[in-house]
Amino acid sequence: MKRFGLIGYPVGHSYSQNFFQKKFQDLGLKDHVYDLFEMEFLNEFPALWLQHGDLCGLNVTVPHKENVVKYLDKQDVSAIKVGAANVICKKGNKLIGYNSDYMAFRDSLSVWLGKFKGESLILGSGGASKAVQAGLTDLKIPYNQVSRSNKGGDYTYEQIKSNPDIITRFRLIINTTPLGMHPNNESIPDLPYSKISKGTFFYDLVYNPEQTAFLKQGEKYGAKTKNGLEMLELQAERSWDIWNS
Ligand SMILES: NC(=O)c1ccc[n+]([C@@H]2O[C@H](COP(=O)([O-])OP(=O)(O)OC[C@H]3O[C@@H](n4cnc5c(N)ncnc54)[C@H](OP(=O)(O)O)[C@@H]3O)[C@@H](O)[C@H]2O)c1
Repeated sequence: MKRFGLIGYPVGHSYSQNFFQKKFQDLGLKDHVYDLFEMEFLNEFPALWLQHGDLCGLNVTVPHKENVVKYLDKQDVSAIKVGAANVICKKGNKLIGYNSDYMAFRDSLSVWLGKFKGESLILGSGGASKAVQAGLTDLKIPYNQVSRSNKGGDYTYEQIKSNPDIITRFRLIINTTPLGMHPNNESIPDLPYSKISKGTFFYDLVYNPEQTAFLKQGEKYGAKTKNGLEMLELQAERSWDIWNS
């Protein structure tokens, strides 16, 4: 048996499990399984590998992407760039960490933008924001960050609201906050949307619902919009490539 899985807390509803179960079925891999391992505390991580000698690889989700690197033997450059790992591969008896979120974001963004010149604005300063920052750095797209607090970024939402022209500078705005995610579909980053320039790119990492309140507001004022579904699919495909490399 070749076992793969997802660790996180909670892991109740998982895109990854559906994705990999379908992949194993499509490829006729009857000896492959993908399990959900609910893990509240990461100190349970070493025991999981001892319990399952057939475990070959893991995906990692909230809240463990950053702290899990302490338990690994080695980090790929992708995990080092982000400071977090969302894919773990067992090679021999070594555990190696990768970050496929960052690669997936970068690749989906660069195809979508095509030739792009301009500055970008990242909303939020959590784990997803760090993957986005690494992607933008690779693509040489300068960025500023917005956070609820002074510590998290270059601007607070309050500062932008009191000087709304700030937003006209940015040709690309990326939502890395969970605002707008089902079931809180109506929640939205607090920005002066009417001030954005026509043709601004709005990228939302949230993929459920398909069109978030953030993307709806962008569209209303002439933005081009993209949700996080392609990023999600690409990060899963990358995991598979990593486990087979
Ligand atoms: N499409 C994909 O493949 C993909 C991959 C990874 C993540 N995601 C999605 O990206 C989102 C963020 O993930 P994450 O792991 O980075 O989550 P997180 O760490 O929980 O939150 C990200 C940041 O959002 C901001 N934030 C949180 N709650 C907020 C609120 N009520 N109002 C305003 N800002 C708030 C915070 O930044 P400040 O404290 O600086 O304000 C926080 O650090 C999730 O919806 C996740 O599903 C999608």
